[in-house]
Amino acid sequence: MRKKIVAGNWKMNLDLNQGEKLLKELLEKKINQEVTTVIAPPYIHLSSFRELISNSTIKLAAQNCHQQENGAYTGEISIGMLKSVGVEYVIVGHSERREYFLEDSLALSFKVTNLINQGMNPIYCCGETLSQRKDGDHFSVIKKQIEQGLFQLNEMELSQCIIAYEPVWAIGTGETATPEQAQEIHHHIRKTIANQYGEIIANLIPILYGGSVKPNNAKELFSCSDIDGGLIGGAALNASSFSDIINSF
Ligand code: PGA
Repeated sequence: MRKKIVAGNWKMNLDLNQGEKLLKELLEKKINQEVTTVIAPPYIHLSSFRELISNSTIKLAAQNCHQQENGAYTGEISIGMLKSVGVEYVIVGHSERREYFLEDSLALSFKVTNLINQGMNPIYCCGETLSQRKDGDHFSVIKKQIEQGLFQLNEMELSQCIIAYEPVWAIGTGETATPEQAQEIHHHIRKTIANQYGEIIANLIPILYGGSVKPNNAKELFSCSDIDGGLIGGAALNASSFSDIINSF
């Protein structure tokens, strides 16, 4: 059976005190232990969060990383640094990084490869814009993003990856893809992987949906056969709504 994963992407929200408060509230909630729960706070929270979660099953993620090991890259954080503070997952290629920070496919594929080489789990994001969907290009856009970011990996390496499908038009807009729209793309992603790596590998990869997931729509989305969890933005900033989403499985 594939892993079920719910990951909270806090983005650039909450200072350290606010973040610790939210994490402590979350630690008091009863959460479904069959679900791998991951939180991706801002970088500077990570090392203190490591202590706070030490007696829990919650895992730490970073929202980004730099692809080089070290060197003159002012303002950047390396994979080794993240590993040293207990990070196990890293979000790669979120649409906000692609759009505002011009992260290109080559840099993203390096990040993915280097994360795998260091034993980390990339959460590789893909998703089409509204105009791409309106033009009927969503299938080809997603296929290309998957190929460019992941197809440099061998089978073993790919099986360490998690994919997040996040239609850009659904992120932070309150507009969610319908379960049918999401399932259709998740199936397309799995087929794209199966064509390259075979069914067995394709069936191992968790594919998360992201884009305005809330407690009132999570159950329906998570019941789709190719949806293995969620990447949650806004609703991860509240312990009750995040735990309700986790418990929607
Ligand atoms: P949202 O964000 O849940 O606020 O739409 C999701 C994401 O960007 O990962």
